[in-house]
Amino acid sequence: MKNKDSHISVMKEEFLAFFADSSLKVFFEGTVGAAGHAKAILQAHPEIVKYIGCDKDPGALELARKELEPWKDKVELIQGDFSNLDTYLSERKILQVDGFFLIWECHLCN
Ligand SMILES: C[S@@+](CC[C@H](N)C(=O)[O-])C[C@H]1O[C@@H](n2cnc3c(N)ncnc32)[C@H](O)[C@@H]1O
Repeated sequence: MKNKDSHISVMKEEFLAFFADSSLKVFFEGTVGAAGHAKAILQAHPEIVKYIGCDKDPGALELARKELEPWKDKVELIQGDFSNLDTYLSERKILQVDGFFLIWECHLCN
């Protein structure tokens, strides 16, 4: 992923609506991409204390880092495959997450 303008975060309203009534402390997103979903949920849920954003694409993580600068104290970005979720969480001694999100196939952004 080279720039965020070529990228659309699909179903953002549905994503926010799903978590609207949840109190979120720890959130794991396995496909953080250009961070459109991450930014939206961090804005909507200031109670989030830790947001782990994972993506296999270093270019996407570079965009995410810039986009999520205002939340840099809460955000940790990991380059890797989301299938290693267990390892990422256990390395950080995180026993549970309150929110979890993946969206890896999108004809609008590939
Ligand atoms: C649809 S985009 C993500 C949209 C993102 N949530 C946003 O708001 O910009 C899909 C992303 O998933 C990543 N991806 C696909 N398969 C992956 C995997 N197995 N592990 C980690 N990231 C993956 C791609 O590199 C891409 O950045």
